Amino acid sequence: MLDVEVRKLMQPFVLSDYQMQEVYTRFGSEIAKGLKRSTQAQANTKCWPTYVQDLPTGDEMGKYLALDLGGTNFRVLLVTLKGHHDASVDSQIYAVPKDLMVGPGVDLFDHIAECLAKFVAKHDMRNAYLPLGFTFSFPCEQVGLKEAMLTRWTKGFDCAGVEGEDVGRLLHEAIQRRDDVEIDVVGILNDTTGTLMSCAHRNPDCRVGVIVGTGCNACYVEHVDNVELMDPAYKRKQKQVIINIEWGAFGESGQLDFVRTEHDRKIDEKSINRSEQLFEKMTSGMYLGELVRLVLVQALEQNVIFKLSSKRQEYADILRNNVDIFETKHMSEIEDDTFPEFANTRRIVKQLFGLEKAAVEDCQKLKYICECVARRAGTLVAIGVSGLINRISDRRVVVGIDGSVYRYHPKFDAYIRETMHKLVKSDKEFDIMLSEDGSGRGAALVAAVASKTK
Ligand code: GLC
Repeated sequence: MLDVEVRKLMQPFVLSDYQMQEVYTRFGSEIAKGLKRSTQAQANTKCWPTYVQDLPTGDEMGKYLALDLGGTNFRVLLVTLKGHHDASVDSQIYAVPKDLMVGPGVDLFDHIAECLAKFVAKHDMRNAYLPLGFTFSFPCEQVGLKEAMLTRWTKGFDCAGVEGEDVGRLLHEAIQRRDDVEIDVVGILNDTTGTLMSCAHRNPDCRVGVIVGTGCNACYVEHVDNVELMDPAYKRKQKQVIINIEWGAFGESGQLDFVRTEHDRKIDEKSINRSEQLFEKMTSGMYLGELVRLVLVQALEQNVIFKLSSKRQEYADILRNNVDIFETKHMSEIEDDTFPEFANTRRIVKQLFGLEKAAVEDCQKLKYICECVARRAGTLVAIGVSGLINRISDRRVVVGIDGSVYRYHPKFDAYIRETMHKLVKSDKEFDIMLSEDGSGRGAALVAAVASKTK
């Protein structure tokens, strides 16, 4: 049995049904605001039209290049669409050095172009014509499939000279500066769009794409009549369009203040994008481990955990002085543990503090702390997803999800479903599917349907 102290400590992270309903309602009105021309400027969730209007049929064919920038890594991919809902992907991962993430934008795009050129040379494709889909996973205002103005950096990126600029043009110019590759950028997309497209490639009922990774965001298929910010010329032929919600920004007008904890506030204060992306800071991989670290410091200070250890103060200091020392992946490992062995938990505690064989009670407490932080994130994501499903007119909706937190956390899917069962209307049917390489396959599919439409 867990003692009452640790339960009390974690109480602020446990959302009541009332709080859940309230967040649900506020979320719905924010999305409505984002879609309307007269209110979009005040909305946190910008609901950008992506200009992706055709979902894949499964019979798309051909070879496409894809770039994927937006998390901890940058990738170049060669995707072969084979028809019959089938595709193969060959890819190369390149690190994005920390200094590039916050340096001049030109340097970042030169790095991207260099990796691209190396990849093309390695695959002996210099002379082939290859259309490219660019998965650029940051908020962008699009005026068509190929033009995307970055509205703000998120997830620890802050390169000068890119906000307000068309990232398609910046990429094009970087490629031109090299003069050793010729590439045609046919589409720029968000990773959520890629996820939706790659899931729709497999399952035609997919209408929502979600990422719970370094960042957190979603997109969904909306009727064009509800999308006031879209160029009317695009509304004639197709009656639907994918909307990139950018829900990570939800809460910036105070809508989440009634559920945010002192730790959430601290994370925000220390971040490079203060007062921004508040929903993201409660739900995504970049911040969840940090939240646990802050809670643990408090737990040690208040003598709630490692009570019998004479080194408690020392442990608190280690955690206090080492930002990011407790990683989000540790949460997955700890929640995967079984009683009473707690093999992962003990290994992590040893790695952090040098403590051999932590006591069972302490392992249980640590697991409970991780569970509360992850469950709250799952609940919040589910609130958003349920709102979208209830908004969409189809009776059956499949949700495609990807991202490191969803993929590797052993219980995240269960946490999401638990809340969805409470919030999705009873006349609806839903399912969740894991996306297979949305950023690569999805980018190729966007490029493919773009050429089909042409
Ligand atoms: C951040 C970005 C968003 C992206 C998400 C997941 O929220 O702003 O565009 O989809 O992270 O990577």
